[in-house]
Amino acid sequence: MNTANPYTLMFGKEPIQMISRVSESEDIYRNFLSEVSPQQVYMITGVRGSGKTVQMTEISKRIKEEENWIVLELNPVKDLLLDFAAKLYNEKKATDIIRDAKINLSFWGIGVEIAKSEKITDIEVALSRMLESLKKQNKRVLITIDEAVNSQTMREFASAFQIFIRQDLPLYLIMTGLYENIDALQNEQTLTFLHRAPKIFLKPLNIGSIVNQYKNTFHLDDENARKMAKLTRGYSFAFQVLGYFTFENNGDYKSIIDKYREYLDEYVYNKIWSELSEKEKRIMYAIASSKGGKIIDIRELLNLKPNEFSPYRERLIKRGLINGDERGIVKFTLPCFENYVLNNYLGDDYE
Ligand SMILES: Nc1ncnc2c1ncn2[C@@H]1O[C@H](COP(=O)(O)OP(=O)(O)OP(=O)(O)O)[C@@H](O)[C@H]1O
Ligand SMILES: [Mg+2]
Repeated sequence: MNTANPYTLMFGKEPIQMISRVSESEDIYRNFLSEVSPQQVYMITGVRGSGKTVQMTEISKRIKEEENWIVLELNPVKDLLLDFAAKLYNEKKATDIIRDAKINLSFWGIGVEIAKSEKITDIEVALSRMLESLKKQNKRVLITIDEAVNSQTMREFASAFQIFIRQDLPLYLIMTGLYENIDALQNEQTLTFLHRAPKIFLKPLNIGSIVNQYKNTFHLDDENARKMAKLTRGYSFAFQVLGYFTFENNGDYKSIIDKYREYLDEYVYNKIWSELSEKEKRIMYAIASSKGGKIIDIRELLNLKPNEFSPYRERLIKRGLINGDERGIVKFTLPCFENYVLNNYLGDDYE
């Protein structure tokens, strides 16, 4: 095939071949776009490569199209409040309104010196006044933060955000993050509004849609399209990787399966694995060794009582690594992850 490969091996960029995730975004649109918003904060979480960044980008693009919305993407490794003020001021839809309200931000080198207006020196006051002026013009501001972590600047930002919401300012927030990071942030005592903020757990992509997608791109029959789709288990990154190598191989997926698996190992599984504790690795190993993921067998292998096993089960589910929908059973969500675990667990080095 001579045309460009429609699949991508890159993270964080909206792919050409996209499986839509309507239901996951609908709640957000409904709540954010309604006259009075019952919900102003959402967190998107999921395992590495599940599509958090892509999903958030899609939502923010859609909201950006709304006349009265201003959408700002903040960088979580910068000073978030300062980044917020600077980006808000420089946003086309906001600059004039803020300038007309004579809000003097020259203390931070933002904008220009404004005659007869007092220099503001507290960033929270500055932001609050900017948002107040935007509110009067019926504007709403959505902030997106990709890969949030429980850092000092993030806590400062969240704490200020909480005050802005209390002041009834038109401010909205979507964050993405790995479950452990989002969870750590949500459990900060002082950030009460985050405790209640809904989390969207990204589920696997719809397998039926993947079947159709592969079928159309590679002109496969139903059986082969299904086999190919199942190899991905609906994992977003895997969908792209398998598509990519198959395209390079002129539509023949069977002879690139090894390459596909190696690629997953190298580009995500190594990282995911390194982020697990020794105990979690051991549990993952027991799951991989068990026949059919029966919890009873897994507990026996680990010598754990039910109440000792269930907190691990819960946490691994929330991190998107296993699925516990079927009673008494757990399954790996990522394709071929059981092989990865069996190959990489160094049991004897432990204990
Ligand atoms: N809805 C989708 N349909 C098809 N492919 C998708 C979809 N969402 C994401 N992808 C693909 O999956 C891969 C991972 O997506 P993304 O970078 O958004 O994941 P992530 O969850 O943000 O990962 P990380 O935790 O590493 O930041 C990318 O190659 C992207 O193109
Ligand atoms: Mg991402």
